[in-house]
Amino acid sequence: MTPRERELADRLIRDRRLRAEEYEELLAERDAETAEYLAAAAVAERKKYYGTKVFVRGLIEISNICKNDCLYCGIRRSNRNCERYRLSAEEILACADEGVRLGMRTVVLQGGEDPYYTDDVVCGIVRGIKEKHPDCAVTLSLGERSRESYRRLREAGADRYLLRHETADAEHYHMLHPAEMSYDNRMRCLRDLRELGYQTGCGFMVGSPHQTMRHLAEDLAFIESFRPEMCGIGPFVPHHETPFAGEPAGSVELTCFLLSVIRLICPRVLLPATTALGTMHPRGRELGILAGANVVMPNLSPVDVRKQYELYDNKICTGEESAQCIRCLSARIAEIGYEIVTDRGDYAAE
Ligand code: 5AD
Ligand code: FES
Repeated sequence: MTPRERELADRLIRDRRLRAEEYEELLAERDAETAEYLAAAAVAERKKYYGTKVFVRGLIEISNICKNDCLYCGIRRSNRNCERYRLSAEEILACADEGVRLGMRTVVLQGGEDPYYTDDVVCGIVRGIKEKHPDCAVTLSLGERSRESYRRLREAGADRYLLRHETADAEHYHMLHPAEMSYDNRMRCLRDLRELGYQTGCGFMVGSPHQTMRHLAEDLAFIESFRPEMCGIGPFVPHHETPFAGEPAGSVELTCFLLSVIRLICPRVLLPATTALGTMHPRGRELGILAGANVVMPNLSPVDVRKQYELYDNKICTGEESAQCIRCLSARIAEIGYEIVTDRGDYAAE
């Protein structure tokens, strides 16, 4: 760690912010010693609000049908070799029941932008889960929708919404998405979600094609100003049926470094150690927790469709039953001295 790196690290720890050029410098000049220094500070910050608790969110992948064509994503509409599925309301409710039976108090409904899930359909599912499990938080991750749609889903009882911004640089955004998608609409969605009272999550991939340290610095500056309650980051992992098939995967080390930096910018943020991180390294999720993450997301999808929700190659946890996934994660978390907790794990109050 050079004296300059030390100065930037200390200022980040103290002020919870740096200027965009300084984030870029911190990232570009990082070494193992800086990473350790920031991870220790991140762990200390997290401890103030959450102790050694790691929150569990049961992930239900409701559909791999998608009207979008994101260049990085394995379930993009142009992928003709993807066997499509969608879960019915009854199947989704059964997964949620199973999650609750296994101790989960948050379920995340995630899917491609599948037109089948109209507001009426999703509102019915959300109400169904809430009626049966009033103490359970419902998180939606269903992509871009209208403000009116987000309003109705919120009214039906949805508590949280995850919509990764993917990159805070408009030009980079357009290198990752087809022309009909726009950076401005993505940002509009995030603002609407926030204003409608959702606990809101943004996030991005680390090492996505064309990404530079300057882009990552912009992501950090965006997070600093947006102040999300949740933030999902994981390494980019190529999928063989996409235009980015031949691109290199993102780095586990840089992902962990960024988890520490994000924890220091937003000390109370709910930060998952993602499945993509677990895919790129056998102990990826443990490394994420040790860098400052505090959420894990065991898969609750029906085992017979899991392989089909293939956003990227070699995704882990596609053969395990829900109970197995939870048991496996609990053991991994315990082994590194943390404890899985099953309360709702809402954003900590001031
Ligand atoms: N590698 C890693 N993450 C991906 N996602 C989509 N495709 C990939 C990929 N190839 C992430 C996106 C999306 C989230 C649901 O999954 O960031 O927002
Ligand atoms: Fe569907 Fe990206 S192509 S989420």
